[in-house]
Amino acid sequence: MLFSFCFVCTLIIQIFSSVDVHSCELDTAVQRKPPGLHARKKVWWAKEITPDFHIAGRLTSRQIKYASEAGFKSVLSLYTYEGDETSSFGGEYLPTSAEAWVASHQAGLQFIALLGPWDNDASVEAVHKFSDALIHLKRPILLHCNRGYSITFVTLMYMANQSRYDPAYQPKINSERFYRIAASMGLDFTADDMKQVVSNITGEPVIDNPPKPNCEPKEWRDFWLAHPIYKNWYTAGQIRKTDIKVLEDTGFKAIVNMRMGVTDNGIPSQEAVTLLNIKDGTPTYGDGLIGPRQNDEILKTIRLDPNKSNEYVSEKSKVNYESRNSGEFGDDIGYNETLERLAVEASTLKYYHVPFPSDGKFSTDAFSLMKDRLMEAGQQGPVLLHCASATRVAYVGVLAAALQHNKDFSWALKRIRELGFEVGPDKDMDVYEMYKVWLKLGDEWNSTKNEL
Ligand SMILES: *[C@@H]1O[C@H](CO)[C@@H](O)[C@H](O)[C@H]1NC(C)=O
Ligand SMILES: *[C@@H]1O[C@H](CO)[C@@H](O)[C@H](O)[C@H]1NC(C)=O
Ligand SMILES: *[C@@H]1O[C@H](CO)[C@@H](O)[C@H](O)[C@H]1NC(C)=O
Ligand SMILES: *[C@@H]1O[C@H](CO)[C@@H](O)[C@H](O)[C@H]1NC(C)=O
Ligand SMILES: *[C@@H]1O[C@H](CO)[C@@H](O)[C@H](O)[C@H]1NC(C)=O
Repeated sequence: MLFSFCFVCTLIIQIFSSVDVHSCELDTAVQRKPPGLHARKKVWWAKEITPDFHIAGRLTSRQIKYASEAGFKSVLSLYTYEGDETSSFGGEYLPTSAEAWVASHQAGLQFIALLGPWDNDASVEAVHKFSDALIHLKRPILLHCNRGYSITFVTLMYMANQSRYDPAYQPKINSERFYRIAASMGLDFTADDMKQVVSNITGEPVIDNPPKPNCEPKEWRDFWLAHPIYKNWYTAGQIRKTDIKVLEDTGFKAIVNMRMGVTDNGIPSQEAVTLLNIKDGTPTYGDGLIGPRQNDEILKTIRLDPNKSNEYVSEKSKVNYESRNSGEFGDDIGYNETLERLAVEASTLKYYHVPFPSDGKFSTDAFSLMKDRLMEAGQQGPVLLHCASATRVAYVGVLAAALQHNKDFSWALKRIRELGFEVGPDKDMDVYEMYKVWLKLGDEWNSTKNEL
């Protein structure tokens, strides 16, 4: 039985191996890399437009430090924030531009706030100012406004202007590509005044029916950190305690957490929590060479920059690294899933724990073990799938969205690549095979199962 089943499977897989994944055009400016530059667990929320330009919403001081640890060289804030602006995100304090300047410089980043209070953000003049400012900034640059909306418009318009006037400029952006990239990022720039600016910058006629994003809810950007996949499906890396309230207010209904729990089959299985000035990818419990992560002797050896000042961590810190992070559900050992569960269950959001190891292999069977819970989560409405760096969940989320909304294999391959993951017959093959069986061959799979 097993033999004949595998035989049928292999046959079917061979038939569809000829699908050419490289021929489809992506709705991104470049083939993106996985989000987060060189610190993927810390900066998973940054959205790459080009290797030099990444988009974010208004940053906390911690996020500015994370950006420096990820390898960003400068921060550009579209707006100038004074003391009287709304200055919190889910209760977490958001620095003014003056404070962000100090935090950036302390972290070794350049900082610039572009527009004054009377400047119009979605305007030809804003694009001018942006072009002028770029000359002075080291790259890569983390570009932000409140929720990553207007800054994306200005950045893409800058690229469109470059495309128009500089024959050597790459990637080329015209109005059609602009609208496809925006829709793919979940952003709607189809208001009439914006269309006029697009036409002015590109020198092309106003586009009649540009593609629009399909995100539910439309105002998902209130939680700007999420990566939209399709309709009600979004991915994220590790969320903070303070994000839960924002997710509720934004209209999310469920959280699916794919990180490992405190134990797995009775064996301790906590993942690491992110810590300031500490390398990611250093294991919670240590290994043969290195002891448990969160004690001072070990932490000193896995600092990113041993020369950082203590003030980098906090005003009163006595060391130049962090050893605990309760804001991201860390305890004395590492990331504690129980803490997150308790916090989410105290909210109106439904919580699903679907643990999958970060180095786990995907397969048709691995997905069948999670499919029902994912589909149930999808039925609740907008659902945020998260893990540590928005990687595991991207692979799974694209497939779950495809199954809920009847999207096919080639759609899934395009979408996962737009999110920054190059799945193909020779790259991340386990994911490729999983998609192939569940999507392209969905019906055959069912009938094969029934026959056996
Ligand atoms: C577009 O590029 C040209 C050539 O570099 C420049 O002179 C012009 O100011 C730019 N326009 C905007 C809106 O930035
Ligand atoms: C484009 O916008 C600029 C600045 O607002 C304006 O001076 C110019 O006339 C506009 N050009 C076109 C073709 O609309
Ligand atoms: C730290 O400072 C020492 C002495 O000034 C220097 O040799 C070393 O390269 C610095 N390390 C880093 C990571 O900057
Ligand atoms: C994780 O958090 C829970 C809830 O606070 C706590 O009971 C537990 O001791 C923590 N750590 C471990 C390893 O279970
Ligand atoms: C298989 O059949 C079930 C029940 O008819 C259906 O819900 C599902 O969408 C089909 N395809 C896959 C890939 O499960």
